[in-house]
Amino acid sequence: MSNSLEVNKIFAAVLTAGVTFGLAGLVGRLVVHPTTPKQAAIQIGEPAAAPVAAAPAAPALEPITPLLAAANVQAGQQLAQRQCVSCHSFNEGGRSGVGPNLYSIIGAKHAHAAGFNYSAAIRAMADKPWTYEEMNAWIANPRAYASGNKMTYAGMASVQNRADLIAYLRSISPNAPAP
Ligand code: HEC
Repeated sequence: MSNSLEVNKIFAAVLTAGVTFGLAGLVGRLVVHPTTPKQAAIQIGEPAAAPVAAAPAAPALEPITPLLAAANVQAGQQLAQRQCVSCHSFNEGGRSGVGPNLYSIIGAKHAHAAGFNYSAAIRAMADKPWTYEEMNAWIANPRAYASGNKMTYAGMASVQNRADLIAYLRSISPNAPAP
């Protein structure tokens, strides 16, 4: 008898504890719950905004002319020594090699070097002068500028390097217009 009474007491205690625990949990959830919908709303909102930023248009080439005033002619000359002299000379009256001599190139017409065997792609532009922006586009990506040209040069990606290089070309071009 007293044993079963003890069992009942323990059972009642466990039950009470269980109910209390359950209630505490329920109250706890009621208190915590209000923040859950907000977090869910934020997480739903972000992926919806993401595709707008994930589809950039093909970037237009940044204009080079505004960068020329602050460009570094010496750095440009070094770039030319490293990346262009294997095919081009830059001195007045210099010989053409794989590529034409580039003295006085800014402001000169396309295919400017007499006697050099230009591609049809460059010869087709012979009435157009080499402006700063034309030179920018050519050096950035020769193939895109004149498809079918025969200058085997992949292109110079850095806009700052192109500004330095073009400032150097300008410095050896007595007939260059003001940028
Ligand atoms: C692998 C050889 C090679 C390299 C390297 C090279 N070029 Fe050329 N370049 C050529 C050839 C060949 C042509 C003639 C392209 C044609 O007729 O299609 C040319 C043409 C040009 C022209 C047009 C000249 C004109 O009279 O219209 C310019 C400007 C020029 N290169 C600048 C550069 C510069 C600046 C660099 C370095 C960043 C460079 N090139 C690197 C071979 C080269």
